[in-house]
Amino acid sequence: MLLYEHLADDFSSLIANGQIRPGERLPSVRHLAQQRNLSVSTVLQALRTLESKGLIEARPQSGFYVRGRGMRLVQGSSHDEVKPAVEVGLSGNLMKVLHQNESAGMAPFGSAIPAPQLLLAPKLNTLYSRIARTQPKLLAKSSHGHVNEDKLVRALMRRYLEWGTHLHSDEIIITNSCTEAMMLCLRAVTREGDTVAVESPTYYLMLQLLEAMGLKALEIPTHPSTGISVAALELATRNNAVAACLLIPNGSNPLGCVASDDNKRAIAKLLAQRNIPLIEDDLYGDICHSKQSNTSANNSANGHPRPIYSFDESGNTMLCSSFSKTVSPGLRLGFVAGGKRAADVLFQKTVNSGNTNAITQNVLAELIESRGFDLHLRSLRRKLSDQIARTRDAVERHFPTETRITDPQGGFVLWIELPEGINTMNTHALAVKEKIAFVPGALFSPSGNYSNFLRLACGHPWSPQLDDAVKRLGAIVGKQ
Ligand SMILES: Cc1ncc(COP(=O)(O)O)c(C=O)c1O
Repeated sequence: MLLYEHLADDFSSLIANGQIRPGERLPSVRHLAQQRNLSVSTVLQALRTLESKGLIEARPQSGFYVRGRGMRLVQGSSHDEVKPAVEVGLSGNLMKVLHQNESAGMAPFGSAIPAPQLLLAPKLNTLYSRIARTQPKLLAKSSHGHVNEDKLVRALMRRYLEWGTHLHSDEIIITNSCTEAMMLCLRAVTREGDTVAVESPTYYLMLQLLEAMGLKALEIPTHPSTGISVAALELATRNNAVAACLLIPNGSNPLGCVASDDNKRAIAKLLAQRNIPLIEDDLYGDICHSKQSNTSANNSANGHPRPIYSFDESGNTMLCSSFSKTVSPGLRLGFVAGGKRAADVLFQKTVNSGNTNAITQNVLAELIESRGFDLHLRSLRRKLSDQIARTRDAVERHFPTETRITDPQGGFVLWIELPEGINTMNTHALAVKEKIAFVPGALFSPSGNYSNFLRLACGHPWSPQLDDAVKRLGAIVGKQ
């Protein structure tokens, strides 16, 4: 046997015996080379051998990890058929589930929020006190006149330019969150009773926005690895019945898919030709871990895939985002680049909430301009990707074998399909008694689809307690 084969063989045995478990990271190449007195290239050859056997996987900027045993993947819909638009009436159930998920001591698989220790609250506190002290006039500005702080607008433009996206200063409106940004866009381009096309499944808060505004939802089939079906979107938008599209092309919630650049280009062109405004939620653009987002020729080294906005030269796309998942969910700071409808969005911002807090804007501008911010994002992506792998592994070990699961390319939630006949609203009621939070699948569809699915958020560092919670949840599911 050659040296690299010996090493590969040793690791195969350790993995087969369960001494290194799925989701665990192997020692670094340099460490292994030193420990085994081998050259780096021999170690790499051994790791590539293990990778080609499907035993380990390389994760960008992170190292080599043991792969799961391969639970089956959630299948996308095999047709491009679109059912008629429906009214949305989820809020009663949704508010109850969200409230229960927030109660004290719940295992945190409910809201998609990174654990506080992964975010930047201490840095924010320091910046807040310095900026409030040194710029006391920030709070004396008019309440409706100056929506934007120039410093933040410039910082956003610089950041987006790094991944090939040219925002224009006169189209940016700083908002109180991504949710507010989407709400303002919807108000700017729809009237009560209109139809809005959404991915299926889609983020429940988007559905709640439609419900609150009396808008109908048109569900477009969306594949867990390739994203929204462009063919179905084309069919659905043929007859002028769709007033707007509300999509999450980078790291959709709950599927975690990232649309290809070709599909993004096609969607931008289709909607611009038909003059159907696209409201694009790019909240998870900064936390994409897909192979695609790291290899696409058009993507920057920092891993942010290009949004549809960057393929649209017509101004038809309204790009919305915030820093809730990367800096702090309590910051409540987002923005919209409104394209050719920026004036209408600004009008909505002015009449709905006036300015966005000027101190917060300056705090964020300093933070995202600081040298450590990209390092923070890299580290956050690595940690979230590890947490996803650990949670997947726990589901594989503890859930019934017929379960299917996603392999998300962006964001940090897992979408899990249970055998038909299980209603995860019932599972949730039982899980709450066991102090386990998650979001039932039916809340991701306005027409009652996905009742046998559930979403697990992976925002918290892995621990024996979380493993135990997944085990208990698997037992509840197994008994249903
Ligand atoms: C896709 C998506 N958009 C928007 C939001 C909410 O963002 P914000 O806190 O900025 O309102 C979330 C939060 O989970 C989300 O998953």
